[in-house]
Amino acid sequence: MSSSVKVVVTGAAGQIAYSLIPRLVDGKTFGNKKVNLTLVEIPQVVEKLKGLVMELEDSYFPNMGEVKYTDNFEEASKDADWFLLVGSIPRGIVYNGKKIEERSDLLSINGGIFVDQGKAIGEHGKANAKILVVGNPANTNAFIGKNAANNDSQLWMAMTMLDSNRAKSVISKKTNTDISDVTNMIIWGNHSPTMYPDSENVCINGVLGSEAINDMTWVESEFIPSVQQRGKAVIDARGASSATSAAKAAIDTVIACENPTPSGICFSAAIASDGSYDVPEGIICGYPLMTLEDGTVDIKRDIALSDFAKSKFQISIDELLEEKEAVKHLMK
Ligand code: NAD
Ligand code: LMR
Repeated sequence: MSSSVKVVVTGAAGQIAYSLIPRLVDGKTFGNKKVNLTLVEIPQVVEKLKGLVMELEDSYFPNMGEVKYTDNFEEASKDADWFLLVGSIPRGIVYNGKKIEERSDLLSINGGIFVDQGKAIGEHGKANAKILVVGNPANTNAFIGKNAANNDSQLWMAMTMLDSNRAKSVISKKTNTDISDVTNMIIWGNHSPTMYPDSENVCINGVLGSEAINDMTWVESEFIPSVQQRGKAVIDARGASSATSAAKAAIDTVIACENPTPSGICFSAAIASDGSYDVPEGIICGYPLMTLEDGTVDIKRDIALSDFAKSKFQISIDELLEEKEAVKHLMK
């Protein structure tokens, strides 16, 4: 085996983690590397992880290294290369007598988790650690965590790959193409009902969506709302939020970051804005990204946005700014 990677997963006893964790050690996500796992849960459920570790041992994963579990995040974070921050409360449940309807309702419940975790990652994670926030509201949780980490050599991301995968599926049905023929499905902005899935810059068999789809009525009245509301539709149908598709999207994000992105291609995740595309600096915004040969992840800056796209994207930027304002008490 060439080398090893240490991956920390929070929310390890939850439903996303149950699909996610086996895929981290299956020899595909990190290629030939040995994968050491540290699984983190809250004290009330941490002992359940013993059963998950037993199952991992029973599964015969040749690439699996050491597997530990703990409720001590600070200890877990030491020298980790990757952090998959899934641990948090999902919407669709009743919390303190109130049904959680929107991801933003989770801000006051989940936001605090990311202050302590961010601080520990900044102090103890590897200098080039990559952090993917899955727990909602993912962008603003990542914003809180990155601020607390105060370590600019680390990369904080919030997951929008699930939205991108959902949008690819809708586009492939509309255009009667294989899903593998759909690339560059960019999600601009927030992982929330304001996200802007870009049907103009998506690539279908090498042709831009602006040409291949050519049906703006469908884009506005069906495509965009269906992608924006897909998380809710799954919750309504399943009685629980997306889990296996969320886990697959987290794996897709890790793979996209671990391998150089082919020329002309991009993938979707939200990272801190450096002012690109006129987004105010610092907010964690969904962008088209690419992984460079040296392993750094950067924004693809040559995408043309129409006036329609700019107006939709602005709605999501404004929402991110409102969320930033709502968590200013958590900033130091
Ligand atoms: P779940 O309730 O099944 O599991 C969450 C787990 O996190 C629980 O076991 C809980 O004990 C644990 N947890 C809570 N606080 C923690 C902490 N401080 N440290 C470690 N663990 C902690 O929920 P789930 O379905 O796995 O979803 C997890 C989160 O992911 C939710 O916030 C959900 O909304 C979000 N989500 C995001 C996306 C996305 O595309 N970004 C997609 C699906 C779900
Ligand atoms: C999703 O998009 O499925 C998740 O963010 C869960 C949710 O609350 O919608």
